[in-house]
Amino acid sequence: MYVCICNGVTERRIREAVAAGDTTFEALQEDLGVATCCGCCEEEVRGVLTACLRTQRNNTQCGFIAKPGTIACPRCAS
Ligand code: FES
Repeated sequence: MYVCICNGVTERRIREAVAAGDTTFEALQEDLGVATCCGCCEEEVRGVLTACLRTQRNNTQCGFIAKPGTIACPRCAS
């Protein structure tokens, strides 16, 4: 499903970008161009980002958000 019509960015593409390390709205704007034209998609982009980060947090015991190349939390190793 398209989230940002102006830039042709899908929800799947946002999820892939977050998994690859774009953990802020600003990072998604820079990498994908979302919400840089009319801005109508900002709320939806932020919602997808929040859902992705919540899922990542649930994947570790302590809430550590793994970045690409990181396997586990450096403190608790979860
Ligand atoms: S729909 Fe995303 S900037 Fe217009």
